[in-house]
Amino acid sequence: MKAVLLIGGEGTRLRPLTCNTVKAMVPILNRPFLEHVIAYLKSHGVDDIVLALCYLPDHVQSYFGDGSKHGVRLTYAVEDSPRGTAGAVKNVEGYLDDVFLVFNGDILTDIDLTAMMAFHRARKANVTIALTPVEDPSAYGVVETEADGRVRRFVEKPPREEATTNLINAGVYILDSDVLPHIPANERYMFEHDLYPKLLARGVPVYGFPSEGYWIDIGTPEKYLQLHCDLLQGKGVTALHSAARPSDPASVARGGWVHPTARVEGPVVLGHGCHIGPAAYLKGPVVLGEDCIILEGAAIEGSVLWHHVRVGRQAVLRHCIVGDSTSIGDGSQLDTGSVVGDHVVISPGSYLAPGTRLGDVSQEEPTPPPAGPPRARQDPGGSP
Ligand code: GDD
Ligand code: MG
Repeated sequence: MKAVLLIGGEGTRLRPLTCNTVKAMVPILNRPFLEHVIAYLKSHGVDDIVLALCYLPDHVQSYFGDGSKHGVRLTYAVEDSPRGTAGAVKNVEGYLDDVFLVFNGDILTDIDLTAMMAFHRARKANVTIALTPVEDPSAYGVVETEADGRVRRFVEKPPREEATTNLINAGVYILDSDVLPHIPANERYMFEHDLYPKLLARGVPVYGFPSEGYWIDIGTPEKYLQLHCDLLQGKGVTALHSAARPSDPASVARGGWVHPTARVEGPVVLGHGCHIGPAAYLKGPVVLGEDCIILEGAAIEGSVLWHHVRVGRQAVLRHCIVGDSTSIGDGSQLDTGSVVGDHVVISPGSYLAPGTRLGDVSQEEPTPPPAGPPRARQDPGGSP
C-alpha cells in the first residue's frame, strides 16, 4: 500500500516554532513528528510513502533519507510553488497505484487503516474520508453523511452555528486513481474546497468512515502541547512506543542529571545531557530536549522545551513551549500558553503574559516586568 503525505504547508499557526523548521519536523517526545506518523503507517503495512513537500524540504530529506533506517521507502516530491492538497497528489500521479492513501501531514491518530480499507472496498467507494468527532467543528472540514456512510455534503470550516454535525474530515483518505482525472494538472487545487464538492455534485461515490480512535491535528501551539500531555498521560498513542508510554516517571527521567534536592513529579521526559539543578521543580507532563540546563530553584510545569534551553534561577514556566537554544533569564515568569521560538534571549525578571508569542529574533524584547511583578516561586502548580 502506498501513501502520499501532505507536508507542504508553512505551519503559520505554529509560529514561531515553525520559523526554522517545518511542522512535520517539530519534536514530539524529542523525535520529529513525522517519525511517529511513519511508524504508524508502517504498523499498518504502509511502507511506500511519497512525501509531498514545498517549504524547507531539506530538513525532512536530510533526516529521513531514503527511509531505510525507518523500515520504509520514501520518495520526495518537492513543489516549486504550493499545489494545494489535491494538486500535490496530482503532481505524483505517475507514482500511484489503483488505490492509495493520502494523509494530511500534521495529524496523529490511531485510526484503523485496515478496517478503513475493508470499508472502502465493501462500499465500492471511489473516495473514503476518515471522520472523527470534535467539540468545535468550525476549524475543520465538516462532513455530512447518510446512514450508510455516503457523504452528502462537505463544508470546509463553516461558521460554528452552521455546522450540522461534529464529525469532521480527519485528513486521512483512501482514493481510487479514477478520481485523479478530476484534478487539473499544474494548478493549485484543494480536496476540501474543490475536489470533494465537485465529486459530490457529479454523484461520484464518496464515503465517510467514522472512527472513535485517538486523533489530533498539531496545527496550533495549544494542540502541540495537548498532544504531549495526551501521550504522557496515556490518553494518546504513538507507534514509537519506548518513550511514548512512560509509566514510571523515574525511569523516564533517565538520560539526564537530576540534583538530589530537585523534585521531579508526574510524567517527565528528559533528553540526553539535561541538567536539573538544586531545588528545581519539574511537574509533569514535561518534556525537555537534549542538553537543557535548569538552574537552581526554577520551576517548570506542563511544558515542552526543545534542545539546549537554559532556564535561569527561580524562573517559572507554566504550560508553555520553548524553542531550541533559548535562554530564559533568572526570575523570569512565562505564563500559560507562552510560546517562545529558537535562539531567544529573555532578560532576567521578564514576565510573559498568558498566550505571548515571542519570535526567533534574539534581540526581541519580551514584555517588561509589570510594577510589582508576580515574582518567581518554586511551585507552579500549587500543592503536589
Ligand atoms: N504538499 C502540499 N502542498 N501540502 C500541503 C499544501 C500544498 O500546497 N497545502 C497544505 N498542505 C498540507 C499541510 O502541510 C498539512 O499537513 C495538510 O496539507 C493540511 O493543511 P492544513 O493547513 O493543516 O489544513 P487544516 O488543518 O486547516 O485543514 C485540513 O485538515 C483538517 C484536519 O486536520 C482540512 O483537510 C480539513 O478539512 C480537515 O478537517
Ligand atoms: Mg492541519
